[in-house]
Amino acid sequence: MHYSPEPFRIKIIESIRLISRPEREAALKEAGYNLFSLKAEDIFIDLLTDSGTGAMSQEQWASLMRGDESYAGARSYYRLKIAVEDIFGFKYFVPTHQGRAAENILSACLVKPNQWVPSNMHFDTTDANIRARGGRPANLVIDEAHDPANPHPFKGNMDIAKLKAFIATYGREQIPFGMITVTNNAGGGQPVSMENLRAVADVYHAAGIPFFIDAARYAENCFFIKQREPGFESKSVNEIAREMFALADGMCMSAKKDAIVNIGGLLCVNDENLFADIKNELILREGFPTYGGLAGRDLDAMATGLYEGLNEDYLAYRLQQTSYLATRLNEAGLPTIQPTGGHAVYVVANEVLPHIPNYEFPAQSLAVELYREGSIRGCEIGSVMFACLDPETSIWHYPKLELLRLAIPRRTYTQTHMDFVADALCRIKSRACSLRGYRLTYAPGLLRHFTARFEPL
Ligand SMILES: Cc1ncc(COP(=O)(O)O)c(C=O)c1O
Repeated sequence: MHYSPEPFRIKIIESIRLISRPEREAALKEAGYNLFSLKAEDIFIDLLTDSGTGAMSQEQWASLMRGDESYAGARSYYRLKIAVEDIFGFKYFVPTHQGRAAENILSACLVKPNQWVPSNMHFDTTDANIRARGGRPANLVIDEAHDPANPHPFKGNMDIAKLKAFIATYGREQIPFGMITVTNNAGGGQPVSMENLRAVADVYHAAGIPFFIDAARYAENCFFIKQREPGFESKSVNEIAREMFALADGMCMSAKKDAIVNIGGLLCVNDENLFADIKNELILREGFPTYGGLAGRDLDAMATGLYEGLNEDYLAYRLQQTSYLATRLNEAGLPTIQPTGGHAVYVVANEVLPHIPNYEFPAQSLAVELYREGSIRGCEIGSVMFACLDPETSIWHYPKLELLRLAIPRRTYTQTHMDFVADALCRIKSRACSLRGYRLTYAPGLLRHFTARFEPL
């Protein structure tokens, strides 16, 4: 398969060490077979997340040095303001320390108990921030999103019929705002088309409901639109982004993804009164509105990173790196969510290990084996993360898919690293039938995947 060379060369390196197999086995045992509990220095290739794990450019490091640490009105804030206004075009914005802080502030300002917030699929922090205010998140993505083999080019799209029916059922008073997540992380990093974004905006606005975009991976989404949606081939990614954000009334963004910084977020709105509330909430929780929980240098790195994240040579390489890894796996008979999303490859673990039942955690078994085989850390997105016990019936409900997510940090790993990952998974596949499941030895009631402990069966 063709692989375009990385559009950068390496100037600073961070050493990584491949520890021996007995050392990996000991590290696994000590971590209770939970990859979140491993020490990062015991990992050779870390694909746990693409959030805040990207490599900053020389321009970003230079921007850090220009950081103005004034408490109020720093030059760094005004440099960020120019970039935010130029790229997104909203009237008002505040920086936040990361995406969930923006979600928290938006929910605090708008959500009242028992109100609903629809989206294609809420990311888990958005979901939790809406619930924390007594609200109820609703996921109205198209049905194709739930079929891993379906090749629909925009599997992040909202189901417009479901959205209309939802609004007809609950009414504008019960829906303080509506959202859409681009790309849809919870559904495999799948993009939303411009056609769908227009339709979603029309439906929300016809009902008088403000429309917010969760823009964590907006640049990757815009590049997918350019590649896949008729009529956008010759538009620049910047133009596509402007067109997308012109449809919305505001956005939340984790800058740790497409703005390629290690920390940072944004909350943008057009409504002046809402902005006044946001500033008060921000001062309470994050900091003064010109720094919002960040150091001045972080604002400068974000301003530079926002432009770099839109560079089309970079985006072409970025999406191709993800699809290269997926194609190598698919060629070896390892199924992944189709089509390949922007930031991660999702291996369908229940098809690789059909002999391991969901209550013995097949995706956890595959994730542990990948670490054992190649010192590579992925992330289980299956029954460890999502199975839940119905307190009334005492019946466990299991998710439809058992996935191993391999999230690719931006500008961090090379093609050789991707080949190393693919080769390790291929070796595992050849002895897949010998893999066994796991049993939980400790699990907290909430968000158990972070701290659970296991033992092999
Ligand atoms: C789509 C989406 N929204 C929001 C967030 C939350 O951002 P943060 O981790 O910066 O709080 C994430 C993080 O992964 C995400 O993927």
